[in-house]
Amino acid sequence: MSNIAQQSLNRRQFLKSAMALAGGVVTLGPTQVLGANRWEPAHWAFLSDTHISANPDNHYRGFYPYQNLQEVTGQLGSGLPDGLVVTGDLARLKGHKGDYWNLQKLLTPIAEQRPVHLATGNHDNRENFLNAFTHSGERDWLVDGKRIVTVKTGQVMLILLDSLLFVDLPWGRLGRSQLAWLRTYLNALDDIPTILCLHHPIKGRGALLDGQRLLNLIRPIAKVKAVVHGHSHEFAFRETDGIHVISLPATGYNQNNAEPVGWVDAHLTGEYGVFTLRAVGGNTRLNNHTEQHRWRT
Ligand SMILES: [Fe+2]
Repeated sequence: MSNIAQQSLNRRQFLKSAMALAGGVVTLGPTQVLGANRWEPAHWAFLSDTHISANPDNHYRGFYPYQNLQEVTGQLGSGLPDGLVVTGDLARLKGHKGDYWNLQKLLTPIAEQRPVHLATGNHDNRENFLNAFTHSGERDWLVDGKRIVTVKTGQVMLILLDSLLFVDLPWGRLGRSQLAWLRTYLNALDDIPTILCLHHPIKGRGALLDGQRLLNLIRPIAKVKAVVHGHSHEFAFRETDGIHVISLPATGYNQNNAEPVGWVDAHLTGEYGVFTLRAVGGNTRLNNHTEQHRWRT
């Protein structure tokens, strides 16, 4: 796989999938935490829209994102998953350096023990993010300025895509180069169930400008089983052309009172995914609600 991709794509070894924090902390790689039985489900915490500010007391709609993430990392600490993914809007609004310093501080207890993979959203500044989180490694890619992370975990592959277009404007775009990379990568990849993780939804309000291109690309590639996104601050499961589309709740704050604030506890196998809401605020009616979704074949 790597050889093919290296020939056709501008791969740069500049990130590390195991997050290295400024304090010199290097996390374990995914293969080190899978356990002896590779058939066990991969267990991942899916978070989105943490919206961490340089000011820990920053609040919006009555929510305190700093405190929320503190609570979530506390929950994770008592039952560590294999790893953690955050699908963008890591920072409060504009991706200030101080936002990421606080994010680092909050994620350190997890990152010391497990891989942490972060995607950027429309409230992130890619340069400030990359300066705060020093990475280098072989499972990360830079394609025409966009950062992509690939993670093999258990029986599945996670691919974090980069949909950040403009800082603090709602729209997102993957871009032709990233989509071309994705097509090449997927075609060269073994036949492994694959889940795409990115900030923007494919369709709907505030969606990717090139969401239809992404859908057209992945629809005929059966190994793509699901798309996990943030941005909507909404906990929801949809399906399009047999592909599961999972909208993660925000960890920072909701945008309407009907939605929870929290994260999703995911167990992923080659045949299906089991997703459990862990609500820490907002509408907690569905706290611990679990959905199982079988992958298309
Ligand atoms: Fe957001």
